Amino acid sequence: MPTQYKKLQQQFLNEKHTWLITGVAGFIGSNLLETLLKLNQTVIGLDNFSTGHQHNLDEVESLVSKDQWKNFTFINGDIRNLKDCHKACKNVDYVLHQAALGSVPRSIENPILTNENNITGFLNILIAARDAKVKRFVYAASSSTYGDHQDLPKIEERIGKPLSPYAVTKVVNELYADVFAKTYLFKTIGLRYFNIFGQRQDPNGAYAAVIPKWFAGLIQNEPVFINGDGETSRDFCFIDNCVQANLLSATVEDEVATNQIYNVAFGERTTLNELYQLIQDRVLAANASAKEAKPQYRDFRAGDVRHSLADISKAKNRIGYEPEFSVRSGMDKAAKWYLENLNQ
Ligand SMILES: NC(=O)c1ccc[n+]([C@@H]2O[C@H](COP(=O)([O-])OP(=O)(O)OC[C@H]3O[C@@H](n4cnc5c(N)ncnc54)[C@H](O)[C@@H]3O)[C@@H](O)[C@H]2O)c1
Repeated sequence: MPTQYKKLQQQFLNEKHTWLITGVAGFIGSNLLETLLKLNQTVIGLDNFSTGHQHNLDEVESLVSKDQWKNFTFINGDIRNLKDCHKACKNVDYVLHQAALGSVPRSIENPILTNENNITGFLNILIAARDAKVKRFVYAASSSTYGDHQDLPKIEERIGKPLSPYAVTKVVNELYADVFAKTYLFKTIGLRYFNIFGQRQDPNGAYAAVIPKWFAGLIQNEPVFINGDGETSRDFCFIDNCVQANLLSATVEDEVATNQIYNVAFGERTTLNELYQLIQDRVLAANASAKEAKPQYRDFRAGDVRHSLADISKAKNRIGYEPEFSVRSGMDKAAKWYLENLNQ
């Protein structure tokens, strides 16, 4: 039996829709772009390059055909500007809203900037999408919304109090989406991403995520730090699973599936110590000196939760989500990309 996602991919090849991806020059946005263009879809992308890069767009261009690339229109704009949002939403069927300032530490250092991008920006794009009467607004929510709630696995309905300004912004996104559903009968789906990783996730900068940072450290023989004792755990999820969840959410027809929040994860817990080993094993294949590398342990980081694991049954049951990549198979693909791109 083909999965719901396989059926959808088949259907898209003969059915053109217009998509808006905000944050298109970032990690998740550029992967959504690559998949949609390969499925012959029309895509409008919005980005202000605050954390995204032109080289992500260039890489996607190199991976699709010339005709597919012609289906892409880029708008260099900012979601904090309502005019840019209205321009981007024109004639759009589906919005995949990814633009935001990620990173818990960044939000602790500069809560106002995170608030402006993640709350004011979110409200602007929501209003523009509503005004443009798009069919569906799918947005990047976050597992940080579970905050201080201790239960594992995480179930969508049970959340705690946020532990960082970043988490506050993601909770507020969900509240706004819910209110827009009630007051304007607008259709939204929020995807609570759990530590997404894979090709084009940025290894550079003070706020880089753990997997790209460790790949870079081990490939370039630089120190790798583990915050805490290494027994902190996360539900790491390969990017292709995240792309699948977005496309299914945009097009699911069942009414009970819309105006909902879904966990997007693999449904398995990996500790940081295990993660280090997974990455080191893969880097060793190309760089023998990584064998001697040892992680350096340092203090726990403020705002971090100790353990995270998702229950993904709601997404499985309602939108037909079936993650195709495990942490290990995803890590193989990620390793290939980091080795090709950082091993110079
Ligand atoms: N990567 C993860 O594990 C993860 C986990 C939970 C939630 N998320 C959420 O997923 C979304 C995408 O994250 P990512 O990992 O691809 O990050 P990213 O930083 O690679 O991508 C974000 C993109 O949004 C753009 N952007 C930021 N502010 C903007 C603005 N004001 N106007 C226009 N563009 C703007 C950036 O330039 C960048 O290209 C974010 O909303 C993030 O909070 C990611």
